[in-house]
Amino acid sequence: MEIQWYPGHMAKARRIMQESLKAVDLIIEIVDARIAYSSRNPDFNDLFAGKARVMVLNKADLADRTATRQWLEHFKGQGLSAVAFDSAHPKEKQQVSAIIERSAKEKVDRMAKRGARKVVRAMVAGIPNVGKSTFINAFAGSAAARTGNRPGVTRGKQIIRITPFLELLDTPGVLWPKLDDAQGALHLALTGAVKDEIMDTYRLSRELIAILAQRYPRALPERYKLAGLGETPDHTLMDIAGKRGFLLKGGDVDIERAAVTVLDEFRSAKLGQITLEVPGDIEERQDDPFMEL
Ligand code: G4P
Repeated sequence: MEIQWYPGHMAKARRIMQESLKAVDLIIEIVDARIAYSSRNPDFNDLFAGKARVMVLNKADLADRTATRQWLEHFKGQGLSAVAFDSAHPKEKQQVSAIIERSAKEKVDRMAKRGARKVVRAMVAGIPNVGKSTFINAFAGSAAARTGNRPGVTRGKQIIRITPFLELLDTPGVLWPKLDDAQGALHLALTGAVKDEIMDTYRLSRELIAILAQRYPRALPERYKLAGLGETPDHTLMDIAGKRGFLLKGGDVDIERAAVTVLDEFRSAKLGQITLEVPGDIEERQDDPFMEL
């Protein structure tokens, strides 16, 4: 797979984030619940060493609930706080802010011993498209007025007060995903985290159908009213095109259109709540920087 890689951009983004780190007590690392492994940046462990961290499994509305529970256990087993969230339709904001506050408890308690009531300041971080801005907006929408610039915070950056003891930096830290892991790159492309140009839609869709055949064999037959899955992904696409009446001039089935439909309907969860990777799979993946946390 041919993938563009920009080490210069990466180094710059890392530097900018390092600057902001000085102003925060806590990191809220956002991942896509459907690909909670592939949507992490392996650099974060280094970069955030020594900071309290909360994992937010975002887009939980699109993910398989059982798999999300497994991921929450997995992260907790690594000593990280973790919570599932749907930033697009936020309902449990209080619960999330309580978990975030609790994760900085050590620092708060230390300050309390010195007689100070500490306001915890958090930075949201993650790879592009996991929902960092949506997450921040979910809280900013209900937050008391945004405060102005503060000492120690780069000019132009804003702080959002979420609870009396919790503030959020409104500029998220962004680092690119790790794309040299072929399986991870595929999962990122399937969820739309990286652009479709990396792999064409037709190929992506066939890969998706192969994954679904393994993990969710009923998803496609139920959605498209098929008797079952085809012998190959191409056969399944042909059946879907037939059912949907996707025809080319001349009467052949339009397999490309079926491929686009399957991919779109996966991304919008019309095929059901589907998770592409669970903790058990990643243990098999080579070179796993997260297993050492
Ligand atoms: P980023 O800052 O990390 O780059 O991500 P951003 O918030 O821009 O979110 C990326 C896409 O994911 C957006 O969709 C956003 O609406 C969607 N999104 C974020 N959080 C959630 C969530 O918890 N659940 C669901 N279902 N979607 C979420 P988009 O396609 O760019 O725009 P649109 O679909 O909102 O028009």
